[in-house]
Amino acid sequence: MTTINPASRLYKIEPRKSEDELLELEKRYCSYGDTVHYLEPPKFFERAEGGYLYDRAETPYLDLQMWYSAASFGYGNPRLNAALKNQLDRLPQLASQYLHAEKVELAAAIGRLNESKFGATGRVHFNVGGSQAIEDSLKLVRSETGKTLVFAFMGGYHGRTLGASAITSSYRYRRRFGHFSDRAHFVPYPYCFRCPYEKRRDSCGLYCVDQFAKNFDTEYNSFWDAKAGEAEFGAFYVESVQGTGGYVVPPAGYFEKLKQVLDERRILMVDDEIQMGFYRAGKFWAIENFGVTPDIIVFGKALTNGLNPLSGIWAREGLISPEKFPPGSTHSTFSSNTLGTAVALELVRMVAEIDYERITREKGAYFLERIRDLQRRYPRIIGDTDGLGMALRMEICGPDGRAPDRELCDAIFAEGMKGDINVGGRRMGLVLDVGGYYKNVFTLAPAFDISREEIDLACEMFEILFKRCAPGRI
Ligand SMILES: Cc1ncc(COP(=O)(O)O)c(C=O)c1O
Repeated sequence: MTTINPASRLYKIEPRKSEDELLELEKRYCSYGDTVHYLEPPKFFERAEGGYLYDRAETPYLDLQMWYSAASFGYGNPRLNAALKNQLDRLPQLASQYLHAEKVELAAAIGRLNESKFGATGRVHFNVGGSQAIEDSLKLVRSETGKTLVFAFMGGYHGRTLGASAITSSYRYRRRFGHFSDRAHFVPYPYCFRCPYEKRRDSCGLYCVDQFAKNFDTEYNSFWDAKAGEAEFGAFYVESVQGTGGYVVPPAGYFEKLKQVLDERRILMVDDEIQMGFYRAGKFWAIENFGVTPDIIVFGKALTNGLNPLSGIWAREGLISPEKFPPGSTHSTFSSNTLGTAVALELVRMVAEIDYERITREKGAYFLERIRDLQRRYPRIIGDTDGLGMALRMEICGPDGRAPDRELCDAIFAEGMKGDINVGGRRMGLVLDVGGYYKNVFTLAPAFDISREEIDLACEMFEILFKRCAPGRI
């Protein structure tokens, strides 16, 4: 006879709640510590398909940020969903202390890919989220170099665990949490539209790298002990195209020159590809655009197209050989989970068959042309546009084309979320993400299979939103 748990009446099935009722519950029972309340009131969505999110009224919202680039290959991608479902039926769970084929094949695929791209052998270590993989990379750096200090970029974002917060530029993420003795030394990123040295890109001669290099000239500049021949810093954490920092693309030659300095001082380069990896910036790894070979690559997000979480690090053999990083060096219960590795393996196979380099370059170039046209027509709203592959930026500025206009950016963002734009004979919404040093940049990361017509539609919606939010600046 089945016994009924008396506690079960607490969970009795109730009729479907309205969004207002759910918001009341959310207010009472959900922590506000995540990013949901960046928008008030927060937004519910009901389903997702391709490059669209849908609310309860079935209003389509064209998504131009695809979950910070985690779902680049489209919501509900049939091939990747099928891989997940197959795995769910065959080997849905397995403690990560045992092996399963997909984990090994995925690590081999990434290892071989990097051998072909960089001519370097290495190994892969999996984890579950981007920040956790950053933590693993910090352990690798510490075990190899014996140093706890690293460089990272101003404007950089590496996650919100304690270790990742310590190397993320924004103090806002650390302020409440005490002293960070291993806080990174933050170096200006080559954000040429707002050059930290007030130089011009066409004539600066990469002055910013020279300024960084100068710090090693004498021990009294604080970085370098000439007698010991070593720096106080073990690694430099880079996003080759800054993500949360506002999809900022560096000038040609920057990373080659920086890597030379790092090599001379025996400082490792850790390349955070969590947001830009998997073709977002037009190549499998964004760093491939810049002709340097990193020592460690950290990845996550689009690896599983936003399905079962999986992240990882790849490191040169010399850093991660079994002698250097022995069993138990790092571990998490859900790392290398069977569902995530199955999807990721299918994704790696898919990108080997479909020419995403061409797709992201061509569509990205078309989108960039269209937003540059908007910039020409709305110079009192858009101060800068740029992009690499399908990572595009639109910087919202005051009428002078320079002063960051966060207020207007927020207003456009919120207006897009209302889902009441009449366009192409339909009522639609526009999903945007705001980033940048002054929170005035739309970081555009559309689905890779967005069509030209949808790019045109997106630009039409931008125009409608500009007219609604800044009628005096048209
Ligand atoms: C470049 C970069 N690094 C690290 C992270 C942190 O990843 P996660 O949010 O999965 O912990 C992010 C997330 O946005 C990111 O964009």
